[in-house]
Amino acid sequence: MNTVIVGTQWGDEGKGKIIDILSENVDYVVRYQGGNNAGHTVVAGSREYIFHLMPSGILHKGKICCIGNGVVVDPQVLLQEINNLRASKINIFGRLKISSLAHVILPYHRILDLLRETKRANKIGTTGRGIGPCYADKISRCGIRMIDLLNPKVLRDKLKDNLKEKNEVFKKVYGHPGFDFDKIYKEYLSYGRLFSSYITNTHLLLNKASKDKKDILFEGAQGTFLDIDFGTYPFVTSSSATSGGACIGTGVPPVKIDKVIGVAKAYTTRVGEGPFPTEFSRSFGCFIRDKGNEFGATTGRPRRCGWFDAVMLKEAVLLNGISELAIMKIDVLDGLKTIKICTAYKYKGKAFSEFPYDLEVLKGLKPVYKQMRGWPKTINNPKRYRDLHPCAREYLERLSGILKSKISMISVGSAREATIFK
Ligand code: IMP
Repeated sequence: MNTVIVGTQWGDEGKGKIIDILSENVDYVVRYQGGNNAGHTVVAGSREYIFHLMPSGILHKGKICCIGNGVVVDPQVLLQEINNLRASKINIFGRLKISSLAHVILPYHRILDLLRETKRANKIGTTGRGIGPCYADKISRCGIRMIDLLNPKVLRDKLKDNLKEKNEVFKKVYGHPGFDFDKIYKEYLSYGRLFSSYITNTHLLLNKASKDKKDILFEGAQGTFLDIDFGTYPFVTSSSATSGGACIGTGVPPVKIDKVIGVAKAYTTRVGEGPFPTEFSRSFGCFIRDKGNEFGATTGRPRRCGWFDAVMLKEAVLLNGISELAIMKIDVLDGLKTIKICTAYKYKGKAFSEFPYDLEVLKGLKPVYKQMRGWPKTINNPKRYRDLHPCAREYLERLSGILKSKISMISVGSAREATIFK
């Protein structure tokens, strides 16, 4: 069975936890887009791990974890994650595979990301990790790939060519001194040597695995509304964060995908700039943010919080082909008298229930809410669906009804054990 796990909101839905749980029953876990802008949190026993590049299945013995061709890799960050895992005595030898076709983040990508943000009138609020500029080079056909790190001549020629143009732009447009060829060349050749045993044609490996009836879990990063096409553009990331990205970003064809599971928080969060129809007022937003510990796993930035937006979710179900949902962090809503679900929008007096893509409409619309009864505590032990507070069940059933999707997993805490399977 080949399953895609996809974020249905603006990222940070809790995909890391779901991937970690489902990893136990699969053979391969594959990241297919994004880079170290992602921060997937996994709590195992008393330890919390935050992965930025490493697939979240890496904690499970014997699972093969791939970084697909659609991912952009910052070698410095990858090295750090490999070293951290080694220090935690987690053996990754023979288990980590990096696509030779994945593009590499270089120092000029990181700096350009930051410089562009400072110059922009309408800031995106990027993570500053060089993601956008790296994908831009990929599309402009001047990117450097993992395989290039293994070939000194190819790396030299590509880097020389790139720096010739980029250093001019850095100096003339941004007043930045530019970058030294020798320093980058040496550093990136050394990454090539360090990673040579991990770099391989993962698309061949995964297609063979699929042919051999192995189970593959495709780990989406970010979320549907950060997708480069379907997100709230331009306040998006630079990759295909919807389920379709799993095929492009791994070389496994669409006919081989069996199932798509969408992950959503029981409310909504967003980091960075951009429209957010159901955003809470400042004081209530701070309250939920502190209760849910809503701070970015990558940048530590406070996340903006709001009510569950079923209009967005319906769009996400459609775009991703979601047949099952995992609803996360429902316990954060404990103790509220009433809980709201956004079921439609109103703009200039007109109500509608399709997600709008016009930025002016998105910024100016008013959400239409369905009000639900709250509950004091989601669950007391033991953890079965029928043990959930009746009002929490009512909330979940209402969501499932609106979205016409089965809710198969409910997360009531950060630990692996705090998960209900329905
Ligand atoms: P970039 O991906 O660093 O270019 O950032 C573009 C936008 O996507 C910004 O609003 C970021 O805050 C957001 N973003 C990128 N990665 C994540 C993520 O993993 N979770 C939540 N937001 C993200």
